[in-house]
Amino acid sequence: MTEYVNVTAEMPLARSHAIKLHGPDGFEGMRRAGRLAAEILDALVPHVVPGVTTQELDDIVRKMTIDGGGVPATLGYRGYTHSCCISINHVVCHGIPGDRALKDGDIVNIDVTPLVDGWHGDTSRMFLVGDVPIKARRLVDVTYECLMLGIEQAKPGNHLGDISHAIQRHAEKHRYGVVRDFCGHGVGRLFHDAPEVVHVGRPGTGPELKPGMFFTIEPMINTGRPDVKLLDDGWTAVTRDRSLSAQFEHSIGITETGCEIFTLSPKGLHQPPY
Ligand code: MF3
Ligand code: CO
Ligand code: CO
Repeated sequence: MTEYVNVTAEMPLARSHAIKLHGPDGFEGMRRAGRLAAEILDALVPHVVPGVTTQELDDIVRKMTIDGGGVPATLGYRGYTHSCCISINHVVCHGIPGDRALKDGDIVNIDVTPLVDGWHGDTSRMFLVGDVPIKARRLVDVTYECLMLGIEQAKPGNHLGDISHAIQRHAEKHRYGVVRDFCGHGVGRLFHDAPEVVHVGRPGTGPELKPGMFFTIEPMINTGRPDVKLLDDGWTAVTRDRSLSAQFEHSIGITETGCEIFTLSPKGLHQPPY
């Protein structure tokens, strides 16, 4: 049985199995954090070009986050020392910025999470570097569709499994593999909270969605098998078969009638090419 708890001002900042139900203050806080997160991804577009290093992109993210009145939630998170994650080609997620220069044909996920006035805006998009082969562009398009089909299911009365199922069904229709080892998560004053939002599942299963629930949906979809491997750096996750992987992420809140996407691009840069 799922437990829900209405968020109060006095509530301790602790993760628990209970799913928090936020009020108007929460929506206001997430709108601001989500907007900055989306603005950062919008501003990165002209910088994601052949030759730029992922560290240079990380520097831009850190500066924009701070200039926007936030701090990068990943900085110092469980020993992570960068302001975003940058995952190229067969990297599934949590790629660490560094010396790697982007090159023509790369597909790149950039995942940012500014913490603004105590609220986390967690979002990622794919970027295409120069001329990208059709096979990779197709993966990116279908992954975006997976996220949006999942979001369509995010409304009161539906269950978390309805979201998972919509994503899995669409990905597998295209013979892609859906990553099992990482999932979406409750989000808000905590970066990672209950519930776990898995990207495969059956309709009608899992917790019922209720107004005030905040969580991310962030499907990772592979052209090959779903299996991932963690590199020795302890963060970088890659596809075991070295197939390409793509991901998009939004932070959303369940409303009375559906959901609000906190991390929508103000510039309409939803899906590449931008
Ligand atoms: N932003 C990632 C997510 O979507 C988490 C990154 S944690 C880090 O949940 F430490 F790897 F940056
Ligand atoms: Co997330
Ligand atoms: Co993220």
